[in-house]
Amino acid sequence: MKPVKITEGVYSLRVNHFNRHQFDSLIPLPEGTSYNAYLVKGAEKTALLDSADPEKAEVLFSYLKEEKKIDYIVSHHAEQDHSGSIPQVLARYPQAKVVTNPKCKEFLMTHLHLPADKFIEVKDGETLSLGGKTLEFLYMPWVHWPETMVTYLREEKCLFSCDFFGSHLATGELFSEAHQVYVPMKRYYAEIMMPFRSNIKNHLEKLAKYDISFIAPSHGPVHNDAKFIMDIYKDWAVSEPHNKVLVAYISMHGSTYLLVNRLISRLQEAGVCVEKINLDQFDEGRVAMALVDAATVVIGTPTVLTGPHPKAVYAAHLANLLRPKTKFVSVVGSFGWGGRAVETIAGLIPNLKAEVLKPVMVKGLPTEADLKQVDELAALIVEKHKGFRSGS
Ligand code: FEO
Repeated sequence: MKPVKITEGVYSLRVNHFNRHQFDSLIPLPEGTSYNAYLVKGAEKTALLDSADPEKAEVLFSYLKEEKKIDYIVSHHAEQDHSGSIPQVLARYPQAKVVTNPKCKEFLMTHLHLPADKFIEVKDGETLSLGGKTLEFLYMPWVHWPETMVTYLREEKCLFSCDFFGSHLATGELFSEAHQVYVPMKRYYAEIMMPFRSNIKNHLEKLAKYDISFIAPSHGPVHNDAKFIMDIYKDWAVSEPHNKVLVAYISMHGSTYLLVNRLISRLQEAGVCVEKINLDQFDEGRVAMALVDAATVVIGTPTVLTGPHPKAVYAAHLANLLRPKTKFVSVVGSFGWGGRAVETIAGLIPNLKAEVLKPVMVKGLPTEADLKQVDELAALIVEKHKGFRSGS
């Protein structure tokens, strides 16, 4: 493999992993992923920015086969998909030093057992000259771990953003196209970044003063339209949610399904966008993406023994972990002889700072009177959504 030039002295060493199907044993990867390292060559020094997942180290080394000297390995983030091959890079280039912040150094020593004398520590805002190429290090905690930082290459206006602005998308295209990258970026944001929305808002403000021509993330293609990328992140992380309801449901004998269908019909008749997800077999990423901009979440669940269906419990727990912008929540469902489905769901979502709208739990097969309660819930949601933008 040959390094791919992005701009003067800056090269992409992208390691595509087309057939990886899951990340963290949790996140589905419908379009694979990539681990992106970059090479920055100054007049005097050469820096490698991040490495690759050790499972694909041989691809990284195929890019480096002509590279006689690496002076610095900049480590933005200690998670192993980017740092895992650093021990092998150090073995190949024993004179190289790992440049990172003190917390990342601690994590790298913990997770990879790197010796302390291999590091150069940098402060927030500190610079390192490679000779005509100036790396400026910016701390960006919580995109994705507390030690994460990014690098701004001043002369080329290139932001090496690590996980920030990434996408799980294996592709041979160097640069992203909006139509190609929007959904993978939204999926990535939803699964990885959404829990840190308040940090993202601050980081976007911190980056606003930088003139950025390229955003080179650690996953997916390079972005050469930085404004578009920053704007969609602002929409997802900062703006108000949309006139949209996520209805995540499961039904055992059809009663909950009747309630869900009635609710969806009434909402759609009133012009509300609805994302309907059957939890029987579901893609966590689809739920996460819907949570990015849905103003309301309704869980549809039958009662199993004394509580909600376990798959509804999982979906509620997932929503709680991801901390979306949700404004309203409710529950609809059916029971045979009682139970605490609503109370259990409500107790699972303390991180959602949402108003709970009156649930509709009915005994057995819904009657016309039960369906009228669903109509009232739909009408309340429509009322609460007044002023929210339409959107999908
Ligand atoms: Fe792509 Fe948080 O590592």
